[in-house]
Amino acid sequence: MADAPTMEKLVSLAKRRGFVFQSSEVYGGLGSVWDYGPLGVELKRNIKDRWWRSLVQARDDIEGLDAAILMHPRVWEASGHVSGFTDPMVDCRTCKSRFRADKLADARCPQKPSKVPGEHTACDLTEPRQFNLMFKTFMGPVEETAAVIYLRPETAQGTYVNYLNVLNSSRQKVPFGIAQIGKAFRNEITPGNFIFRTREFEQMEMQFFVRPGTDEEWFERWRAVRMAWHEGLGLTPSRLRWHQHGPDELAHYAKAAYDIEYEFPFGWQEIEGIHNRTDFDLRRHQEYSGKKMEYFEQATGERYLPYVVETAAGADRVTLTVMADAYREEMVEAETRVVMGFAPHLAPVKVAVLPLVNKDGMPELALELYHDLRAAMPAFHDASGAIGRRYRRQDEIGTPWCVTVDGDTAGQRSVTVRHRDSMAQDRIGLDQVKLWLQQRLVASG
Ligand code: GAP
Repeated sequence: MADAPTMEKLVSLAKRRGFVFQSSEVYGGLGSVWDYGPLGVELKRNIKDRWWRSLVQARDDIEGLDAAILMHPRVWEASGHVSGFTDPMVDCRTCKSRFRADKLADARCPQKPSKVPGEHTACDLTEPRQFNLMFKTFMGPVEETAAVIYLRPETAQGTYVNYLNVLNSSRQKVPFGIAQIGKAFRNEITPGNFIFRTREFEQMEMQFFVRPGTDEEWFERWRAVRMAWHEGLGLTPSRLRWHQHGPDELAHYAKAAYDIEYEFPFGWQEIEGIHNRTDFDLRRHQEYSGKKMEYFEQATGERYLPYVVETAAGADRVTLTVMADAYREEMVEAETRVVMGFAPHLAPVKVAVLPLVNKDGMPELALELYHDLRAAMPAFHDASGAIGRRYRRQDEIGTPWCVTVDGDTAGQRSVTVRHRDSMAQDRIGLDQVKLWLQQRLVASG
């Protein structure tokens, strides 16, 4: 198992190699908002694609959906977010800083020496006030109260208000699910830890609609499916665990909830929540919209509001998990080798093609092979610098295989394939390279 990397090293590699950049960096950055660079966008897409394939494409009982970010403001009254999606905050009248009232002991006052807010004689804290985490904006040309709408803080509500549309337009029957990947926004007061907690993020949520009374059984089934999915990403099993929500932790809508947690360099933290949301959301939307949300079960002639088992993961959080888990440093010939040991199916670049030297027909052969490979998988061509340095560059971005075209390639019609993790090299036929890689990619999951 790799040593836990410090977050600074990971953030530095992410920037240097084009995984993640700070948003609006040239203007000094925007608090806890991040942009994905060329490699980061590929990595995150691989994670999202894998989630979508496993839930929507590889099953018959889940439909996909892409609901809009902007929704009718009544949605958020019905869901409880207008009244209840708040954190208690205290302000310091002296230094003008704002702190989470329930996390004061973990906070630090900006005055020197740094202490817990309230401990300096100059500190002057207000009483706790509720602060809503939803971002507000205005719809249409007039900035007035009646025009206030919100950026969604979760994708789930787009699913609830579309549940009948999906049911009536597909051939599904309860039990069935709806899956979505999309942006969500929360004006977090204590964001941080890089892309772990941000103000703009992407969720991968699935709501599974079941007959009341079968919800507990489905809840257990979904717990098992979701843990297996995370393990299938190649994450270190001992760094994954369950956290069951106690009665004081349960969200207002939940009958039961478990988090899948990962051991980050900054401690154990949630990466996905599995919730038994009962019929809370459908009942509330039925009440607030006046539209019946009941399901008619033909087999029994019964009408009921389905219960919902929800699996809610963050695409950015899973991306950070995969990066933190992949990062390792090794000593090789008295030098530090940094490796992102991504599972091949997640690696942003699958193969790099390198001519050993830039002469004797090697560059031409390498380019020809690269063009052939890139039609089949994300590939990279690098002809500059010493071969050892080129290998290290690929190790740092997690490329599982490097194919080197050398002096024997033209005559023997063969190349060397270097394995990222073992650094071992195999000699294989030039005409076999594509198939060899494809077989290993399929085998990697
Ligand atoms: N619909 C239920 C729901 O939204 P949640 O536990 O608030 O539940 C689900 O969020 C997942 O979304 C979390 O497990 C996390 O992975 C991700 N997430 C939530 N807030 C986030 C934030 N501020 N930044 C990044 N990811 C976040």
